[in-house]
Amino acid sequence: MDLFDKCGRLTKPKEAQAAGFYPYFIPLQSEAGPEVTIDGRRLLMLGSNNYLGLTQHPDVKEAAIKAVEKYGSGCTGSRLMNGTLDLHVELEARLAQYMQKEATIVFTTGYQSNLGVISALVGRHDTVVVDRADHASIVDGCRLGLGEVVRYRHNDMEDLDRTLASVDNRHGILIVVDGVFSMEGDLVNLPEIVRLKKKHNARLLVDDAHSVGVFGEGGRGTAEHFGLQGEVDLIIATFSKSFASIGGFVAGSEEVIYYIRHSARSFLFSASLPPASAAAVLAALDIIEREPERRVRLWENTRKMKRALDELGFDTGLSESPIIPIIVGEDFRLGMFWKAAFDAGVFANAAVAPAVEPDHALLRTSYMATHTDEHLDRALDIFAAVGRDFQLIP
Ligand SMILES: Cc1ncc(COP(=O)(O)O)c(C=O)c1O
Repeated sequence: MDLFDKCGRLTKPKEAQAAGFYPYFIPLQSEAGPEVTIDGRRLLMLGSNNYLGLTQHPDVKEAAIKAVEKYGSGCTGSRLMNGTLDLHVELEARLAQYMQKEATIVFTTGYQSNLGVISALVGRHDTVVVDRADHASIVDGCRLGLGEVVRYRHNDMEDLDRTLASVDNRHGILIVVDGVFSMEGDLVNLPEIVRLKKKHNARLLVDDAHSVGVFGEGGRGTAEHFGLQGEVDLIIATFSKSFASIGGFVAGSEEVIYYIRHSARSFLFSASLPPASAAAVLAALDIIEREPERRVRLWENTRKMKRALDELGFDTGLSESPIIPIIVGEDFRLGMFWKAAFDAGVFANAAVAPAVEPDHALLRTSYMATHTDEHLDRALDIFAAVGRDFQLIP
């Protein structure tokens, strides 16, 4: 059999394209702000992770431009060999200070952060324990590691307790969990996980990709939100969301970060974060610290939309974050709902299995500090009309 035969058998996306319900790879012709231009048409953007709206901030843009002028367009090697700039060193120090951890290390993407950290730490006889709804980059990091991988039912603390009790505790145990789950916007039960981590003598890594900049008094993520910063051993976050750039980092103790720096393969064998991206994060960090009102506004928008969508009668699941799903159920119905909302002027993300549970297809909406009331009211009018047409709401 020819290796490539499977490629010809991939027909589902083609069918969706032929039917006009294909929601992926849509080119934006503008910045990913609260409104975007697609095919010359202005749409409301409810499908971005630009939570604080910083990709459009003049200081962030200027920092990136100045970095290109000073350092050029890219680093042509890994941090280990020839790709470390003073900017990277400054960024790691600033992030450590901000996250109130001893040290951090910056990766070229958030995805690579999970790959590198998990595979570096989970050795041959160790065990990594993950929530079934954890992000794909965590799953892939576990696959790369040499240890055993055990999964527990989503946010089910009794199952986590049972799972931890069943693993070989003569070697190391790492629990890895999303702070905010990226498709349904629900929140980790961190107090209980911390209790179980102590009970079973495990270590804890929280992926706060969707929470740093968003949760906690100072925007430091779910650990700060729950008052548990001292109890979470490692925090990973990406720069591709609140930080308005690309890249990722892990924050932890000096000793562990030093170890990761010398053993994470996705860090050692990949070129470093480009100067413009690093400078953009530094500028975004200044704004995150200086302008807490952006976070306040993001939460006002989030609460308004959650309340209004619930009142209209949509199923928004257990969302407690600026990610608010509209749960539709069946894939084809979601395709039609997505298309009707898109045609009416809303860009949002269609999520089907394996990104979500089978028959749990959903429209993932997400909100920004820079959405105005007019934007949100317009989105609600569209959702109300389309939702009624599809009998998702009364
Ligand atoms: C929870 C979580 N972790 C990691 C990542 C990967 O980050 P990045 O896209 O910056 O590589 C994402 C991004 O989608 C995410 O949602």
